[in-house]
Amino acid sequence: MSLLGNMINEISQERLWSRHLQLAEIGATPAGGVNRQALSSEEITARRLLVQWSSPLGLIPYSDAIGNLFLRYPGKRADAEPVLTGSHIDTQPTGGRFDGSFGVLAGLEMVEAMYAAQFKPERSIEVVAWTNEEGSRFAPGMMGSALFRGQRDLESMLKVEDLAGISVRDSVEAVRAAEPNIAGRSLGFPVAAYVEAHIEQGPILEMQQKIIGVVSGIQGKRVFRVTVKGAENHAGTSPRAMRKDALVASVDILSALHVAMHDSEDMVKFTVGFLEISPNAPSVVPSAVHFSIDLRHPDSATLNALGDAIPGLCETHCGPCTVQVKELSNDPSLEFPSAVRDVIRDVAVELDIDHMDLPSAAGHDARHLHYVCPTGMIFVPCAGGISHNEAESCKAEDLFNGARVLAGTIARLADQV
Ligand code: HGY
Ligand code: MN
Ligand code: MN
Repeated sequence: MSLLGNMINEISQERLWSRHLQLAEIGATPAGGVNRQALSSEEITARRLLVQWSSPLGLIPYSDAIGNLFLRYPGKRADAEPVLTGSHIDTQPTGGRFDGSFGVLAGLEMVEAMYAAQFKPERSIEVVAWTNEEGSRFAPGMMGSALFRGQRDLESMLKVEDLAGISVRDSVEAVRAAEPNIAGRSLGFPVAAYVEAHIEQGPILEMQQKIIGVVSGIQGKRVFRVTVKGAENHAGTSPRAMRKDALVASVDILSALHVAMHDSEDMVKFTVGFLEISPNAPSVVPSAVHFSIDLRHPDSATLNALGDAIPGLCETHCGPCTVQVKELSNDPSLEFPSAVRDVIRDVAVELDIDHMDLPSAAGHDARHLHYVCPTGMIFVPCAGGISHNEAESCKAEDLFNGARVLAGTIARLADQV
C-alpha cells in the first residue's frame, strides 16, 4: 500500500460523523437544525471546538482581520505557499447540520489521517473556516473569502450592521477577544491551491445515484436590497388617494419583478427571502418596506440583463412611494480549472467511487478563491437535495467518501512543487 493509500485508510467515518453531530449541538434548534450565525457567541464556541480538535495534531491556528480561522498543518517546505481546504461554520437562522460544516470537518479529518499515517506533504496544508459565508446576519455573504481575495474593502465591511445594530467590527473584536492565544495574520496571502468539499444542496447526485460530484463551476449571483418609502397614516381615517402605503407599493413591485424574472425553462432563480415592514403595526399605514433580492443564473449575460432591469422595474411600480435599490454583490458565473477537476476525478477513479461532473447552483467561498489560486470543489449528496432547511440530512458514508476524495486530492496538490 502506498503512503497515500495508508493515509486515506486512516480516515474514520465514525469520527467524522460524530464531529458533525457534536458541532451541530452548538446552536441546535428544536427542529433538529442549527442556528449559528456569523460571528455570534455560538460561532465562537464552535471555533473553540475546532481548535480543541486540531491541537493534538499540532495544527497552528491563525485568524485575520475579518476572523477567518486557519489551522495549519506544516509541510516539508515551510516557505512554500500552502494548499487550503475548508468552508464555513456559520449557518442560516434555520440551517442544517452539514452546509459548510462538512467542508471544514472533512478538512480536519483529512489532517487527522495525515497525522496518523505520518504523511508530511511538501507544502503546508491549512484548514480554513471562512467568516460569514451565509450572509444572513450580515450582508453580503462570503464576506471573509471576498476580503481574502481583495474584492472588497475591509473598512466598509466592518461597518456593516445586523438587525440589532451590532457591527461586524464589534463582532470580530468579540471573536478575537475570546481567542487570545490565536495569532493574527494578514488578510490575504499567496495560496497554491484551494479545494472545498460541500454537500450538493441540490438533488442531482442523489437522482443519478452518484457519491461524488466533481464541480465544474458556480452559477452567477446578484444580491440587492430594496427600500420602499411611503408615509405613516391612520388605518381608519386616511383616504386611499392620500395614502403612501409602502407595502402596497412593494406588492406591486414584487409582482412585476416575478413576471419579469419568470422563464419557462426555470433557469432564473429569483428569491425575496427577507422583508421588513415599518412600523409593523396593524392600524398604521406602512411607511417603509425593506426587502432582499437574490438573483441567480448560469449565463452571466442573462444575469446581467435581468439584474440591470431591477431598478427600473422598481421605479415604474412604486406608485406614490419612493424606492431605492442598492446592489450588494454581483458575481458572474465561473468555471473551475480543468487541472484541479482532473485531480479530483482521478482520485475518485482510483478509490473506485461513483462520480459525475456537475455545476454548483449554490454559492460558495470557492467562488472567491477561484481568483486567488487554482480552485475546485467536491460535492456529496444530501437527502432530497434539501438544504437551507433544518431537515437537511446526509449519509455518514457519503461524507466519509467525500473526505477520502478530498484527502487524496489535497495530498496530491500539496506534493506538487
Ligand atoms: O446562498 C448560497 O448559495 C450559499 O449557500 N450561502
Ligand atoms: Mn455552504
Ligand atoms: Mn448555505
